Amino acid sequence: MDEREIRLRTSRRRLFLKTAIGTGIGLSLVSAFYVGASLRPKAEVTPEKEPLKPGDLLVYAQGGGEPKPIRLEDLKPGDPFVLAYPMDPKTKVVKSGEAKNTVLVVRYAPEALSPEVAQHAVEGIVAFSAVCTHLGCIVSQWVADKQAGLCPCHGGTFDFAHGAKVIAGPPPRPVPQLPLKVENGVLVAAGEFLGEIGVKASAGQCRQV
Ligand code: FES
Repeated sequence: MDEREIRLRTSRRRLFLKTAIGTGIGLSLVSAFYVGASLRPKAEVTPEKEPLKPGDLLVYAQGGGEPKPIRLEDLKPGDPFVLAYPMDPKTKVVKSGEAKNTVLVVRYAPEALSPEVAQHAVEGIVAFSAVCTHLGCIVSQWVADKQAGLCPCHGGTFDFAHGAKVIAGPPPRPVPQLPLKVENGVLVAAGEFLGEIGVKASAGQCRQV
């Protein structure tokens, strides 16, 4: 074996060792990552992050102080919607820790509602998820001349009297309705949202709620 061949074989051996060591370290890091991931504590669902449940009272989202349930007579047809959170009637915990629980409540003249919407309404009062189906912003503005809700992020506009039909902007679908009932004069969730809240998981976009 001449000197050139000896050098070639030595450098091949070094390359093999480097690759083997590098792969070993890489695999160790990967497995350490997975072990670490499995040991990571799961995100805790605290009471204020619990999802809305049938029987929850609707309380005003704004105002501060003691939670204030929304009374039937508080709302007048033609007034802007109010934002609300569900409150557990037993523990009195307001579920405001999860944006998905944000509800908007608005009153129309009962005859203005489409039949599908009316069956889940109470005396013209309807409730819908306030989470926009485009990219998950909160529908927070009222368009008085259209009697509709506006998402300020990209101008999505929802006609709640007709099932939150999208009448302007990019949202791909209506926000889901929340069935209502009245108990002791205050608004109560009569069921769960009638559809998926916010951005659909299959839309392939980043969920923002
Ligand atoms: S997030 Fe509402 S219109 Fe874009």
